Formats: sequence, C-alpha cells, structure tokens
Amino acid sequence: NFNPPTVFHILPFVGSAWKFGKNPTAFLLDCQRKYGNVFTFVILGQKLTAVVGALGNKFVTEMDSVTFNAEDIYGAFTAPVFGRDVAFDVPNEVWREKKRFLASGLSPTNFRTFAKLIEDEVIEFIQENLLSATLVKKIDNSEGSWSSVDAYYLISSLNILTSTRTLHGPEVRESIRSGSKIVAHYDVLDSSLGPMSFIFPRLPLPQHRRRDFSQQQLSSFYLDIIQCRKQADPKSGLTMPSDETDLIASLLKQCYHDGTPLQDHVIANLMITLLMAGRHTSVATGSWILIYLANNPSIANDLYAEQINYFGQPDGKFGSISYDDIRNLHLLNAVIRETLRLQPPIHSISRMVRKDVTVPRDCGERKFIIPQGHVVTTSFGVSQLDQTIWSQLTKWNPHRWLSNKAEDTTIDITDKNNVANAYLPSGGGGHRCIGEQYAIMQLSIIMSCLIRRFKFKVDYHTERQTFTTVTRPSNSTVYFQQR
Ligand code: HEM
Repeated sequence: NFNPPTVFHILPFVGSAWKFGKNPTAFLLDCQRKYGNVFTFVILGQKLTAVVGALGNKFVTEMDSVTFNAEDIYGAFTAPVFGRDVAFDVPNEVWREKKRFLASGLSPTNFRTFAKLIEDEVIEFIQENLLSATLVKKIDNSEGSWSSVDAYYLISSLNILTSTRTLHGPEVRESIRSGSKIVAHYDVLDSSLGPMSFIFPRLPLPQHRRRDFSQQQLSSFYLDIIQCRKQADPKSGLTMPSDETDLIASLLKQCYHDGTPLQDHVIANLMITLLMAGRHTSVATGSWILIYLANNPSIANDLYAEQINYFGQPDGKFGSISYDDIRNLHLLNAVIRETLRLQPPIHSISRMVRKDVTVPRDCGERKFIIPQGHVVTTSFGVSQLDQTIWSQLTKWNPHRWLSNKAEDTTIDITDKNNVANAYLPSGGGGHRCIGEQYAIMQLSIIMSCLIRRFKFKVDYHTERQTFTTVTRPSNSTVYFQQR
C-alpha cells in the first residue's frame, strides 16, 4: 500500500490554495491528468486527498460517517447559519433521522398540491414584472422589441416566492408579500457563507454579528408561526388550517422513535436549513437553463413544441401543469439533467478522514492509503466531464439523455454502473439530497411557464463563477420577447 502522489506546489503552507480557490474543477481535472484518480494536495497547511472519477464518487459518498465525517468540516461553519441541533451540528445518525422527517413532507401527495401553487405564483410574477416594466429594460432593434432581465435575479425571485408558498406555508408567503424583512435576513445568512467565515466562523467581525442577528430573527419568526398553529389546535398540536401541506405542518406531526415530538426550535431551524440548502442550488441551475436555452434557440423551440403537444388546447391556450405531467416532459427533463451535468452547483464534496483508509484498487492506479487527519474530496464536476464516459463532453446536448439519441453523441446511458456513479449532481450515500424531486418539479414548472410565453436570446458568452461555494453564472443578462 502506498501514499497517494502529492501535487507539486512552491509555497509550503499555502500549497495549491490559489489554484484550487480560483477554479476547483479545472484544478482537479488538471491534477487527474497528471497524477491519476488519487492524489494529495495542500491548502493552507491542510492535506486534502482527492479520489476522483465515477468509482471515487461512490467510494467517498457511500463511506460510513465514522470513517469519513462531514460534521468535522462543516459543523463550525454552518451551525451559526442553520441554527443548533440540525444538519452538521448533530452526529450524522441524528441528522439522518431529521432528514427523514423532512423527506416525509416532500411526498408525491404534497407535490400534487404544490404544483398548482407554484404555477399560480409564477404566472402572477410574470404578469406583474415581466409583462409590465417594473423589472425589465426594453431594447428595440432590427429584430423587434426585446426586454432584458438578469436571469439569476429572475429565477431567484421565482424561487423564493414558490418555495415559501409551498414548503413554508401561507404565513411566510404573506409576510413576504407585506414586505417583511425575511428575504433580507436570508440574504445576510447567504453572505456569511464566504471563505473567511469557513476558516474563522466565530471571529468577532461585523458580518458575523449580522449573521447571528439574522439567524435569531428568522428563528423567532418561525417559532411564532409554530406557536400560533399549536394554539389554533391546542389538543392535538396539529396545524392550522389542518389541511396545510407545507413542511411546518408535516414536521408538527412527526415524533422521534421514543414518541416525543420535535422541539419547536428544531422545526424552526430545519425550515431555515431547507431554504438555505435548496435556494442557490436551484437558482443557479435555473439561471443556467435559461442561458443555455437563450444560446440554443432550436432546443428552446423544441421545448415550446413539447408544451404545445402535451398541454395545447383547441382554443390555443395551455392547460395547467400537474405533478404527474412533469415526468412526461422528456425534453424538459433532459434539459435539466444536461444542465446539471455541465453546471453542477455543488461541484465537489469533502469529508474529514477520522481513521486511516485504504482506497480500493479499482478507484485509482493502485491501493493507496489515506491517513487520518486528511480531508478526502471527490468531485461530481470532474466525473461529469469524464471523457471515457461522455462523448463531446463539453457540449450542452440534452438529446444525449433521450432514447432517440442525436447522431452527434455516442454516450451509452445504459451503462448503468459508470453513468450512475459518474452523474451525481444530487450527491449520494448518507448526505444525499432530499430536495432533488422538489427542485425538478419547481424548475420544470417555472421553465414551462416561461417557455410558453417568451423567446430568449443572449449576446455574450457566459463563464462560470467558480470561487463561490455554489457555482453560478458570472453574467446572467438574458433578452426575452413575448411569443
Ligand atoms: C444535499 C445538490 C436542491 C436540500 C445535497 C447534496 C448535493 C445537493 C450534491 C449532497 C452534499 C454532500 O454530500 O455534502 C442539490 C442540487 C439541487 C438541490 C443540485 C438543485 C438543483 C435542494 C433543495 C432542497 C435541498 C430544493 C430542499 C428543499 C438538501 C438537503 C441536503 C442536500 C437537506 C442534505 C445535506 C446533508 O445531509 O449533508 N444537495 N440540491 N436540496 N440537499 Fe440538495
């Protein structure tokens, strides 16, 4: 057994910090070319061992939390943001139980109710903002009249309105409508997720004081809602009104295995965690979809045709989008999948190595040992660009996911083993995403509503902003015209 090769660096303590920080996926791809699938590099004195590739993903994501641990890395950084007793502030087995409570509210039955609420919110937003002049700038040229909007801002607005209306319930949605500071507090929490807070989460900086204040304000806001709902139905402690399908209602019905109900502060902090985990990941994906569609008008037209085929009515209007319809929108689904292949918002994940581990022979070139104290990393951004798996790997080609494949791609998506492990935008194992199905439904409805009404175009090439925790487009202005 051998130690993995070490990536060459000049400055001993700094190591590869600058190159990795600037563009992690490019750095890891370059190291993979030079050193193979398993290699060690240094960042600010910490040794990180990357195990990349399809089998590396499987090895890292499926390892037990006693060996590869997430709390050791993310706990101190996320606890002041998500709040105590949730996510990485508790041991993984405790968090997994709480994830199951959340997941039970993310059920197909609830999704059937959510679909209509999402569509209503999106239509209202389009009418108030895109079809009037509040959010957009108009440009008239030889190609007619186009308006411009920032895709990230547009999708972010639609995301917060639809997520709060469905997952958080009517009280939260109404308080946003009446101009409360909720969104501003979430923005403060977001802005405290930078590298400085990662390294020194408790340093007495103004941004950390703002973070702690906003966390406390959001937490009391949810606690008030929970109290009101309990008072409305003091005997059962159930929700008010009792037919609400949101996650607060669902969590109020859950109990630990010894029969005790979830504490109010846990429910409040779970709601904050959920919004934080789902927001930028979904918004980045939605903005990339709009940008790719604006760059590929023929696929945008095919998507429009799919809407007409599936929802078109004799009077020329469209029918509403139900949760069960979404799985039949094959091209739209392929557009989302292909966007997540090229632009996975969470490109890499890391865990602390709590005891020496041997990397199996088939993950790398030989059996390597990763010593205790290293951080182990794998990268979906790397495996989703693996040339042994994907043909024309940098081309955005949704057709590769459809059974009637376009001629210019040869990917064999029936090769389940490699593709299933290589394509992991929602992660795997004990930390796997619980919001994937919700995100696909939300994005499908938002995109359906937009594509039915508008054509899109762009006049620049967009790069990826790589230095943020969740990767997003660096410039996201798109032009749109009503169909
Ligand atoms: C975990 C991606 C949307 C909630 C994860 C992980 C990934 C991911 C890669 C695993 C992280 C790790 O292993 O360290 C995405 C993408 C999304 C998305 C690409 C959208 C396109 C959502 C939404 C929600 C959500 C909408 C909530 C409604 C969570 C939660 C976890 C998670 C609670 C668990 C974290 C853990 O157990 O450590 N997500 N996510 N995600 N995601 Fe998502």
